[in-house]
Amino acid sequence: MKLAILSRAPRAYSTQRLKAAALSRGHQAKVLNTLRFAIDLTGPEPDLQFRGRPLSDYDAILPRIGNSITYFGTAVVRQFEQMDVYTPNTANGISNSRDKLRANQILSRHNIGMPATTFVRNRADVRQAIGRVGGAPVVIKLLEGTQGIGVILAPEVKVAEAIIETLHSTNQNVLIQSFVQESRGRDVRALVVGDRVVAAMRRVAHGDEFRSNVHRGGSVEPVALDTAYEQAAVRSAQIMGLRVAGVDMLEGNDGPLVMEVNSSPGLEGIETATNLDVAGAIIDYIAGQVAFPEIDVRQRLTVSTGYGVAELVVRAGADLVGKTISESGLSERDITVLTLHRGTMVVPNPRRGVELQAEDRLLCFGRLEEMRTMVPERRRRRAKVRKLPKEPIPEGA
Ligand SMILES: Nc1ncnc2c1ncn2[C@@H]1O[C@H](COP(=O)(O)OP(=O)(O)O)[C@@H](O)[C@H]1O
Ligand SMILES: [Mg+2]
Repeated sequence: MKLAILSRAPRAYSTQRLKAAALSRGHQAKVLNTLRFAIDLTGPEPDLQFRGRPLSDYDAILPRIGNSITYFGTAVVRQFEQMDVYTPNTANGISNSRDKLRANQILSRHNIGMPATTFVRNRADVRQAIGRVGGAPVVIKLLEGTQGIGVILAPEVKVAEAIIETLHSTNQNVLIQSFVQESRGRDVRALVVGDRVVAAMRRVAHGDEFRSNVHRGGSVEPVALDTAYEQAAVRSAQIMGLRVAGVDMLEGNDGPLVMEVNSSPGLEGIETATNLDVAGAIIDYIAGQVAFPEIDVRQRLTVSTGYGVAELVVRAGADLVGKTISESGLSERDITVLTLHRGTMVVPNPRRGVELQAEDRLLCFGRLEEMRTMVPERRRRRAKVRKLPKEPIPEGA
C-alpha cells in the first residue's frame, strides 16, 4: 500500500512511529505537511496538488490533524474522500469529535454513558444549568480545549457563575458538566483501531490536580479494561466516524462515562505504558481496509430524486410489530432496510426473517413518499405557508 500520513510534525514520536511501522511492513509511506496541499476544483474531477505539483496516487491517508488547523485539515481529508482514497478517520468524524458539545450531542442518542452536560448562553439561564448537572462542584469546559487547558473545576455555584459569565463576555462558549468525583482524578484512555481496543491505559492526575492529562503532570499505567469500557470506547469511535481514536472515559459508579473521542491520539504515552505496537496495529488495519474507501452514504444515496435515507420507528401497537421484514410489505413499497437498531444492538443487513419488535428503529433507503407515511406523526406534520398578515409587526410588539 502507498500511504500518506498527513501531519505538520514529521519529527513527532507518533508520526515517526507510524511511518516506521508502515515501512517495516513493506508499505510505502510519506509524511505530507497538511498545510501544503491545494484543493483543486478546477478540473472535471476533484483533485489535489501538493507543494504546487499534482499529487501522485495514494491508496490511503492517515490524517493527524492538529487542533489549530481543523478547518483546512478536514477540507483536505474531505477532498481525499471525494477522490475515493481510503481514510480511517473521515472529515466529518474529525470535526464532530473536536467540538466537545457536538460530540456529546451525537453520542447522546446512542445510549453511551457520559457525564451530565448542559449548554446555555444567556446569563439568566446559568444558575439553573448548574443545578441541572447536580450543582457545585461543577466542571466548566471550553468547547475545543486540549491537554486539559480550558477545563476548570469550580468549587461553588457563585464562582462557577462568575467564570461562566466572564467567558461568555469574551465570546467563549462553554460546557457545564457534572464533576465525576468518584473517578478521583483518574481516567481511562482506550486506543480504538477498527472494531477493537488495541491498548488501554489509566491516567492518574498529579497531586491535588483533578485533570489527569499527561501535559498536566498526570502519570500513566497499563490497564485491562472491562467489557463495558471496551464496548463504550469502540461504539463511541464508531458513532463518531473514527476508526482510529483515543477515547477518554471517567470511571463512574455505574460504569464508563465518555468524555471525549480524540481523532489524532498521541502514541508515545500509550506505547510506553503498555509496551504494545499501537502504530503497527493502526497500519495493519489501514492496509486491510484500503479496498473500502469511506462513502458518505446519505450523499451518495440521495442523488436520485424522490429517493433518500430515513429512519422508521416501529411504534408499539403498530401493525408492523410481530411481522418479519419480508411480511412487513416494505420491499413491495420500494423500501430497503439497511440496518435495524434495537436498544444498543445494531443488526446490519437484517435478514428477511427477522421479526420486528416495538421501538425497533429501521434505517431505510427508499422512496421518500412511501416512507413519509411511516415516520411518526410528529415529524410528518408540515406547516402550511400562510399569507403574510395585514399588520406584519403589530403595534406594541
Ligand atoms: N466531568 C468531569 N469530572 C471529573 N474529571 C473531569 C471531568 N471532565 C474532565 N475531567 C478531567 O479533566 C481532564 C481533561 O478533560 P477533557 O474533557 O478530556 O479535556 P481535554 O480535551 O483538554 O483533555 C480529563 O482527562 C479528566 O481527568
Ligand atoms: Mg482529554
